[in-house]
Amino acid sequence: MYKINTNFQKLPGSYLFSTIAAKVSAFAEANPQADIIRLGIGDVTQPIAPAIIEAMHCAVDEMADAATFRGYAPDLGYDFLRNAIAEQDYQKRGCDISADEIFVSDGAKSDSGNIQELFSEDNRIAVCDPVYPVYIDSNVMAGRTGNYNEATGMFDGVTYMPCTAENGFVPEFPKEAPDLIYLCLPNNPTGTTLKKGQLQEWVDYARKNGAVIIYDAAYEAYISEDDVAHSIYECDGAKSCAIEIRSFSKNAGFTGVRLGFTVVPKELACGGVSLHAMWARRHGTKFNGAPYLIQRAGEAVYSPEGRRQVAEQVAYYMKNAATIYNGLKDAGYEVYGGINAPYIWLRTPDGMSSWEFFDYLLEKANIVGTPGCGFGPSGEGYFRLTAFGSHENSVRALERIKAL
Ligand code: MLT
Repeated sequence: MYKINTNFQKLPGSYLFSTIAAKVSAFAEANPQADIIRLGIGDVTQPIAPAIIEAMHCAVDEMADAATFRGYAPDLGYDFLRNAIAEQDYQKRGCDISADEIFVSDGAKSDSGNIQELFSEDNRIAVCDPVYPVYIDSNVMAGRTGNYNEATGMFDGVTYMPCTAENGFVPEFPKEAPDLIYLCLPNNPTGTTLKKGQLQEWVDYARKNGAVIIYDAAYEAYISEDDVAHSIYECDGAKSCAIEIRSFSKNAGFTGVRLGFTVVPKELACGGVSLHAMWARRHGTKFNGAPYLIQRAGEAVYSPEGRRQVAEQVAYYMKNAATIYNGLKDAGYEVYGGINAPYIWLRTPDGMSSWEFFDYLLEKANIVGTPGCGFGPSGEGYFRLTAFGSHENSVRALERIKAL
Protein backbone atom coordinates (compact mmCIF):
# COMPACT_ATOMS: atom_id res chain seq x y z
CA MET A 1 0.00 0.00 0.00
CA TYR A 2 1.51 3.31 -1.01
CA LYS A 3 1.78 6.20 1.39
CA ILE A 4 1.48 9.90 0.60
CA ASN A 5 3.76 12.71 1.67
CA THR A 6 1.77 13.73 4.72
CA ASN A 7 3.63 17.03 4.95
CA PHE A 8 1.16 18.32 2.35
CA GLN A 9 -1.59 17.90 4.93
CA LYS A 10 0.07 20.50 7.12
CA LEU A 11 -0.73 23.17 4.54
CA PRO A 12 -3.90 25.09 5.36
CA GLY A 13 -6.30 25.83 2.50
CA SER A 14 -5.11 26.47 -1.02
CA TYR A 15 -2.32 28.64 -2.42
CA LEU A 16 -3.06 32.31 -1.63
CA PHE A 17 -3.58 33.46 -5.20
CA SER A 18 -5.75 30.44 -6.01
CA THR A 19 -8.02 31.33 -3.06
CA ILE A 20 -8.29 34.91 -4.27
CA ALA A 21 -9.00 33.84 -7.86
CA ALA A 22 -11.81 31.56 -6.66
CA LYS A 23 -13.35 34.35 -4.55
CA VAL A 24 -13.19 36.81 -7.44
CA SER A 25 -14.71 34.29 -9.89
CA ALA A 26 -17.62 33.68 -7.52
CA PHE A 27 -18.14 37.44 -7.17
CA ALA A 28 -17.99 37.96 -10.94
CA GLU A 29 -20.50 35.19 -11.54
CA ALA A 30 -22.92 36.62 -8.99
CA ASN A 31 -22.39 40.19 -10.31
CA PRO A 32 -21.98 39.91 -14.08
CA GLN A 33 -22.39 43.68 -14.51
CA ALA A 34 -19.46 44.48 -12.21
CA ASP A 35 -16.49 46.12 -13.94
CA ILE A 36 -13.76 44.50 -11.87
CA ILE A 37 -10.30 46.08 -11.68
CA ARG A 38 -7.68 43.47 -10.80
CA LEU A 39 -4.80 44.74 -8.71
CA GLY A 40 -4.32 41.49 -6.82
CA ILE A 41 -1.73 39.06 -8.16
CA GLY A 42 1.40 40.76 -9.45
CA ASP A 43 0.78 39.84 -13.08
CA VAL A 44 1.95 42.21 -15.80
CA THR A 45 -0.45 43.70 -18.34
CA GLN A 46 1.80 45.35 -20.94
CA PRO A 47 2.69 43.34 -24.06
CA ILE A 48 6.18 41.93 -24.52
CA ALA A 49 8.51 44.60 -25.93
CA PRO A 50 9.01 44.65 -29.75
CA ALA A 51 12.75 43.81 -29.67
CA ILE A 52 11.96 40.69 -27.65
CA ILE A 53 9.07 39.64 -29.88
CA GLU A 54 11.32 40.01 -32.92
CA ALA A 55 13.95 37.76 -31.33
CA MET A 56 11.27 35.17 -30.59
CA HIS A 57 10.04 35.29 -34.20
CA CYS A 58 13.58 34.74 -35.47
CA ALA A 59 14.01 31.81 -33.10
CA VAL A 60 10.72 30.28 -34.24
CA ASP A 61 11.90 30.50 -37.86
CA GLU A 62 15.17 28.81 -36.89
CA MET A 63 13.16 25.93 -35.47
CA ALA A 64 11.49 25.49 -38.89
CA ASP A 65 14.78 24.90 -40.69
CA ALA A 66 16.79 21.70 -40.28
CA ALA A 67 20.03 23.69 -40.46
CA THR A 68 19.16 25.85 -37.45
CA PHE A 69 16.72 23.62 -35.57
CA ARG A 70 17.53 23.05 -31.87
CA GLY A 71 16.53 20.11 -29.76
CA TYR A 72 17.17 19.85 -26.04
CA ALA A 73 18.66 23.01 -24.66
CA PRO A 74 21.81 22.69 -22.51
CA ASP A 75 20.31 22.01 -19.12
CA LEU A 76 22.09 24.90 -17.40
CA GLY A 77 21.22 27.37 -20.17
CA TYR A 78 22.63 28.54 -23.52
CA ASP A 79 25.95 30.37 -23.31
CA PHE A 80 24.57 33.35 -25.24
CA LEU A 81 22.11 34.02 -22.40
CA ARG A 82 24.38 33.12 -19.49
CA ASN A 83 27.09 35.42 -20.89
CA ALA A 84 24.64 38.31 -21.33
CA ILE A 85 23.38 37.90 -17.76
CA ALA A 86 26.86 37.64 -16.25
CA GLU A 87 28.09 40.71 -18.08
CA GLN A 88 25.11 43.00 -17.77
CA ASP A 89 23.48 42.07 -14.50
CA TYR A 90 26.68 41.40 -12.56
CA GLN A 91 30.04 42.36 -14.04
CA LYS A 92 28.79 45.82 -15.06
CA ARG A 93 27.76 46.38 -11.45
CA GLY A 94 31.16 45.28 -10.20
CA CYS A 95 30.00 41.82 -9.07
CA ASP A 96 32.47 39.05 -9.79
CA ILE A 97 29.96 36.50 -11.12
CA SER A 98 30.86 34.38 -14.13
CA ALA A 99 28.55 32.89 -16.74
CA ASP A 100 29.05 29.36 -15.44
CA GLU A 101 27.67 30.39 -12.04
CA ILE A 102 24.31 31.18 -13.68
CA PHE A 103 21.64 28.50 -14.00
CA VAL A 104 18.85 29.38 -16.42
CA SER A 105 15.41 28.10 -15.48
CA ASP A 106 11.72 28.46 -16.25
CA GLY A 107 11.23 31.11 -13.59
CA ALA A 108 11.93 32.37 -10.11
CA LYS A 109 8.90 30.69 -8.60
CA SER A 110 10.20 27.24 -9.55
CA ASP A 111 13.71 28.05 -8.37
CA SER A 112 12.61 29.55 -5.08
CA GLY A 113 10.46 26.47 -4.45
CA ASN A 114 13.12 23.98 -5.55
CA ILE A 115 16.28 25.42 -4.02
CA GLN A 116 15.47 23.99 -0.59
CA GLU A 117 16.21 20.51 -2.00
CA LEU A 118 19.91 21.22 -1.55
CA PHE A 119 19.55 21.38 2.20
CA SER A 120 19.12 18.84 4.92
CA GLU A 121 15.65 18.30 6.37
CA ASP A 122 16.74 19.48 9.79
CA ASN A 123 17.85 22.92 8.66
CA ARG A 124 15.92 25.72 10.29
CA ILE A 125 14.53 28.35 7.95
CA ALA A 126 13.95 32.02 8.70
CA VAL A 127 11.50 34.10 6.70
CA CYS A 128 10.27 37.64 6.83
CA ASP A 129 6.68 37.98 7.98
CA PRO A 130 4.81 38.88 5.76
CA VAL A 131 6.43 36.69 3.10
CA TYR A 132 5.96 35.36 -0.45
CA PRO A 133 4.21 32.07 0.46
CA VAL A 134 6.33 29.83 -1.80
CA TYR A 135 9.34 29.95 0.54
CA ILE A 136 7.41 28.51 3.45
CA ASP A 137 5.07 26.17 1.58
CA SER A 138 7.91 24.48 -0.30
CA ASN A 139 9.72 23.83 2.98
CA VAL A 140 6.52 22.51 4.54
CA MET A 141 6.12 20.06 1.64
CA ALA A 142 9.72 18.94 2.17
CA GLY A 143 9.13 18.25 5.86
CA ARG A 144 11.37 21.02 7.12
CA THR A 145 8.70 22.49 9.43
CA GLY A 146 6.34 21.40 12.15
CA ASN A 147 2.58 21.72 12.03
CA TYR A 148 0.58 24.81 11.23
CA ASN A 149 -0.56 26.56 14.37
CA GLU A 150 -4.06 27.98 13.76
CA ALA A 151 -3.79 30.29 16.76
CA THR A 152 -0.60 32.03 15.64
CA GLY A 153 -0.94 31.57 11.88
CA MET A 154 2.62 30.20 11.86
CA PHE A 155 4.29 26.86 11.25
CA ASP A 156 6.12 25.38 14.20
CA GLY A 157 9.85 25.15 13.72
CA VAL A 158 10.09 28.20 11.43
CA THR A 159 11.68 31.49 12.48
CA TYR A 160 9.40 34.36 11.49
CA MET A 161 10.95 37.83 11.34
CA PRO A 162 8.14 40.37 11.69
CA CYS A 163 8.27 43.30 9.27
CA THR A 164 5.74 45.95 10.18
CA ALA A 165 5.42 49.72 10.12
CA GLU A 166 6.76 49.72 13.68
CA ASN A 167 10.20 48.45 12.59
CA GLY A 168 10.13 50.13 9.18
CA PHE A 169 9.61 46.69 7.56
CA VAL A 170 13.22 45.83 8.34
CA PRO A 171 13.66 42.31 9.75
CA GLU A 172 15.62 41.94 12.96
CA PHE A 173 18.38 39.36 13.26
CA PRO A 174 16.97 36.23 14.89
CA LYS A 175 18.44 35.60 18.34
CA GLU A 176 18.85 31.93 17.57
CA ALA A 177 20.65 31.78 14.23
CA PRO A 178 18.76 29.94 11.48
CA ASP A 179 20.45 27.84 8.77
CA LEU A 180 18.60 29.19 5.74
CA ILE A 181 17.49 32.81 5.52
CA TYR A 182 15.03 33.87 2.82
CA LEU A 183 15.23 37.53 1.84
CA CYS A 184 13.16 39.06 -0.96
CA LEU A 185 14.41 42.54 -1.82
CA PRO A 186 12.85 44.78 -2.99
CA ASN A 187 10.22 43.08 -0.93
CA ASN A 188 7.11 41.30 -2.02
CA PRO A 189 4.63 42.09 -0.48
CA THR A 190 5.59 45.22 1.48
CA GLY A 191 7.27 47.00 -1.44
CA THR A 192 10.02 48.19 0.91
CA THR A 193 13.73 47.41 0.70
CA LEU A 194 16.99 47.58 2.61
CA LYS A 195 19.81 50.02 2.06
CA LYS A 196 23.04 48.45 0.87
CA GLY A 197 24.65 48.85 4.31
CA GLN A 198 21.73 47.00 5.93
CA LEU A 199 22.07 44.17 3.40
CA GLN A 200 25.79 43.95 4.16
CA GLU A 201 24.87 43.37 7.80
CA TRP A 202 22.78 40.37 6.73
CA VAL A 203 25.68 38.98 4.75
CA ASP A 204 27.97 39.44 7.76
CA TYR A 205 25.38 37.78 10.02
CA ALA A 206 25.03 34.79 7.67
CA ARG A 207 28.78 34.32 7.43
CA LYS A 208 29.26 34.59 11.18
CA ASN A 209 26.56 32.02 11.83
CA GLY A 210 27.24 29.60 8.98
CA ALA A 211 23.89 30.32 7.31
CA VAL A 212 22.93 30.60 3.65
CA ILE A 213 20.87 33.52 2.36
CA ILE A 214 18.41 32.69 -0.39
CA TYR A 215 18.07 36.08 -1.99
CA ASP A 216 15.08 36.68 -4.25
CA ALA A 217 15.78 39.72 -6.41
CA ALA A 218 12.80 39.36 -8.75
CA TYR A 219 11.94 43.06 -8.38
CA GLU A 220 15.45 44.43 -8.82
CA ALA A 221 14.50 46.41 -11.96
CA TYR A 222 12.19 48.58 -9.85
CA ILE A 223 14.91 50.00 -7.62
CA SER A 224 14.93 53.78 -8.00
CA GLU A 225 17.13 54.85 -5.08
CA ASP A 226 20.92 54.98 -5.32
CA ASP A 227 21.92 53.39 -2.03
CA VAL A 228 20.05 50.12 -2.66
CA ALA A 229 21.94 47.05 -3.89
CA HIS A 230 20.70 45.48 -7.14
CA SER A 231 22.39 42.20 -6.29
CA ILE A 232 23.46 40.68 -2.99
CA TYR A 233 26.86 40.12 -4.61
CA GLU A 234 27.47 43.86 -4.30
CA CYS A 235 28.08 43.04 -0.62
CA ASP A 236 31.50 41.86 0.55
CA GLY A 237 31.65 38.15 1.20
CA ALA A 238 28.24 37.34 -0.30
CA LYS A 239 29.66 34.78 -2.71
CA SER A 240 30.46 32.52 0.19
CA CYS A 241 26.99 32.66 1.75
CA ALA A 242 24.30 33.63 -0.76
CA ILE A 243 22.28 32.21 -3.62
CA GLU A 244 20.47 34.80 -5.77
CA ILE A 245 17.27 34.14 -7.70
CA ARG A 246 16.13 36.40 -10.55
CA SER A 247 13.15 36.56 -12.85
CA PHE A 248 12.31 37.93 -16.28
CA SER A 249 8.63 38.15 -15.31
CA LYS A 250 8.51 41.56 -13.73
CA ASN A 251 11.24 43.43 -15.62
CA ALA A 252 10.36 42.15 -19.10
CA GLY A 253 6.78 40.88 -18.83
CA PHE A 254 7.57 37.15 -19.02
CA THR A 255 4.92 35.98 -16.53
CA GLY A 256 3.32 33.91 -19.28
CA VAL A 257 6.56 33.19 -21.14
CA ARG A 258 8.53 31.79 -18.17
CA LEU A 259 12.23 32.45 -17.74
CA GLY A 260 14.43 33.06 -14.73
CA PHE A 261 17.81 32.15 -13.34
CA THR A 262 19.63 31.36 -10.15
CA VAL A 263 23.20 32.27 -9.28
CA VAL A 264 25.07 29.72 -7.20
CA PRO A 265 28.65 30.95 -6.74
CA LYS A 266 31.37 28.33 -7.00
CA GLU A 267 32.83 29.27 -3.65
CA LEU A 268 29.60 28.45 -1.81
CA ALA A 269 30.38 25.17 -0.10
CA CYS A 270 29.39 23.25 3.01
CA GLY A 271 31.99 20.93 4.54
CA GLY A 272 33.89 20.99 1.27
CA VAL A 273 30.82 20.08 -0.80
CA SER A 274 30.03 22.59 -3.54
CA LEU A 275 26.43 23.81 -3.69
CA HIS A 276 27.15 24.85 -7.28
CA ALA A 277 27.91 21.23 -8.16
CA MET A 278 24.81 20.03 -6.31
CA TRP A 279 22.50 22.49 -8.09
CA ALA A 280 24.08 21.54 -11.45
CA ARG A 281 23.43 17.89 -10.65
CA ARG A 282 19.86 18.63 -9.64
CA HIS A 283 19.23 20.76 -12.73
CA GLY A 284 20.69 18.07 -15.00
CA THR A 285 18.50 15.40 -13.48
CA LYS A 286 15.19 17.23 -13.18
CA PHE A 287 15.21 19.91 -15.88
CA ASN A 288 15.71 19.81 -19.63
CA GLY A 289 16.47 23.47 -20.08
CA ALA A 290 14.30 26.50 -20.81
CA PRO A 291 13.12 26.51 -24.46
CA TYR A 292 15.51 27.90 -27.07
CA LEU A 293 13.14 30.57 -28.30
CA ILE A 294 12.47 31.76 -24.76
CA GLN A 295 16.19 31.99 -24.05
CA ARG A 296 16.61 34.01 -27.26
CA ALA A 297 13.82 36.26 -25.96
CA GLY A 298 15.76 36.57 -22.71
CA GLU A 299 18.93 37.48 -24.60
CA ALA A 300 17.01 40.26 -26.40
CA VAL A 301 16.17 41.81 -23.02
CA TYR A 302 19.88 42.70 -22.84
CA SER A 303 20.17 44.17 -26.35
CA PRO A 304 20.36 47.99 -26.51
CA GLU A 305 16.81 48.18 -27.94
CA GLY A 306 15.51 45.60 -25.50
CA ARG A 307 17.01 47.39 -22.52
CA ARG A 308 15.47 50.69 -23.59
CA GLN A 309 12.06 49.13 -24.16
CA VAL A 310 11.91 47.18 -20.90
CA ALA A 311 13.08 50.28 -19.00
CA GLU A 312 10.07 52.10 -20.50
CA GLN A 313 7.76 49.36 -19.23
CA VAL A 314 9.24 49.52 -15.76
CA ALA A 315 8.75 53.31 -15.82
CA TYR A 316 5.14 52.79 -16.92
CA TYR A 317 4.44 50.52 -13.96
CA MET A 318 6.25 52.85 -11.58
CA LYS A 319 4.01 55.67 -12.79
CA ASN A 320 1.09 53.49 -11.72
CA ALA A 321 2.81 52.90 -8.39
CA ALA A 322 3.07 56.68 -7.86
CA THR A 323 -0.57 57.15 -8.88
CA ILE A 324 -1.73 54.54 -6.39
CA TYR A 325 0.64 55.60 -3.62
CA ASN A 326 -0.15 59.32 -3.87
CA GLY A 327 -3.87 58.73 -4.42
CA LEU A 328 -4.10 56.58 -1.30
CA LYS A 329 -2.16 59.15 0.73
CA ASP A 330 -4.53 61.90 -0.47
CA ALA A 331 -7.43 59.73 0.58
CA GLY A 332 -5.95 59.51 4.10
CA TYR A 333 -4.49 56.00 4.00
CA GLU A 334 -1.24 54.96 5.65
CA VAL A 335 0.83 53.80 2.68
CA TYR A 336 4.22 52.12 2.13
CA GLY A 337 6.27 50.73 -0.74
CA GLY A 338 5.87 51.85 -4.33
CA ILE A 339 9.26 53.60 -4.57
CA ASN A 340 11.66 50.71 -5.21
CA ALA A 341 8.98 48.13 -6.00
CA PRO A 342 5.76 47.74 -7.96
CA TYR A 343 3.76 46.96 -4.81
CA ILE A 344 1.90 49.36 -2.58
CA TRP A 345 1.30 48.19 0.96
CA LEU A 346 -1.34 49.98 2.98
CA ARG A 347 -2.79 49.74 6.42
CA THR A 348 -6.44 48.75 6.29
CA PRO A 349 -8.74 51.55 7.46
CA ASP A 350 -10.86 51.60 10.61
CA GLY A 351 -9.23 48.52 12.10
CA MET A 352 -10.67 46.25 9.40
CA SER A 353 -9.02 42.87 9.03
CA SER A 354 -7.22 42.20 5.77
CA TRP A 355 -9.97 39.91 4.48
CA GLU A 356 -12.72 42.34 5.60
CA PHE A 357 -11.04 45.05 3.56
CA PHE A 358 -10.65 42.64 0.62
CA ASP A 359 -14.41 41.97 0.65
CA TYR A 360 -15.23 45.64 1.19
CA LEU A 361 -13.10 46.77 -1.75
CA LEU A 362 -14.41 44.03 -4.02
CA GLU A 363 -18.06 44.63 -3.17
CA LYS A 364 -18.10 48.43 -2.91
CA ALA A 365 -15.48 49.39 -5.52
CA ASN A 366 -15.11 46.20 -7.57
CA ILE A 367 -11.35 46.27 -6.98
CA VAL A 368 -9.30 43.16 -6.30
CA GLY A 369 -6.25 43.44 -4.04
CA THR A 370 -4.37 40.99 -1.86
CA PRO A 371 -5.07 40.66 1.86
CA GLY A 372 -1.88 41.16 3.84
CA CYS A 373 -2.59 38.29 6.22
CA GLY A 374 -2.31 35.92 3.23
CA PHE A 375 1.44 36.58 3.42
CA GLY A 376 1.73 35.81 7.12
CA PRO A 377 0.36 36.87 10.48
CA SER A 378 2.27 40.18 10.57
CA GLY A 379 0.47 41.09 7.34
CA GLU A 380 -2.84 41.18 9.19
CA GLY A 381 -4.29 44.69 9.05
CA TYR A 382 -2.43 45.41 5.82
CA PHE A 383 -3.36 45.12 2.16
CA ARG A 384 -1.37 44.97 -1.08
CA LEU A 385 -2.15 46.64 -4.40
CA THR A 386 -0.06 45.97 -7.48
CA ALA A 387 1.13 48.60 -9.94
CA PHE A 388 1.11 46.04 -12.78
CA GLY A 389 -2.36 47.02 -14.05
CA SER A 390 -2.92 49.40 -16.93
CA HIS A 391 -2.49 53.08 -16.16
CA GLU A 392 -6.16 53.72 -16.92
CA ASN A 393 -7.20 51.09 -14.41
CA SER A 394 -4.81 52.40 -11.77
CA VAL A 395 -6.34 55.87 -12.14
CA ARG A 396 -9.90 54.49 -12.15
CA ALA A 397 -9.21 52.33 -9.11
CA LEU A 398 -8.03 55.32 -7.13
CA GLU A 399 -11.06 57.37 -8.18
CA ARG A 400 -13.26 54.59 -6.87
CA ILE A 401 -11.33 54.30 -3.60
CA LYS A 402 -11.51 58.05 -3.05
CA ALA A 403 -15.26 57.94 -3.62
CA LEU A 404 -15.84 55.25 -0.96
C1 MLT B 1 2.64 38.00 -6.48
O1 MLT B 1 1.57 38.54 -6.79
O2 MLT B 1 3.04 37.97 -5.32
C2 MLT B 1 3.46 37.40 -7.55
O3 MLT B 1 2.92 37.64 -8.78
C3 MLT B 1 3.55 35.98 -7.38
C4 MLT B 1 4.63 35.40 -8.25
O4 MLT B 1 5.45 36.11 -8.81
O5 MLT B 1 4.65 34.18 -8.31
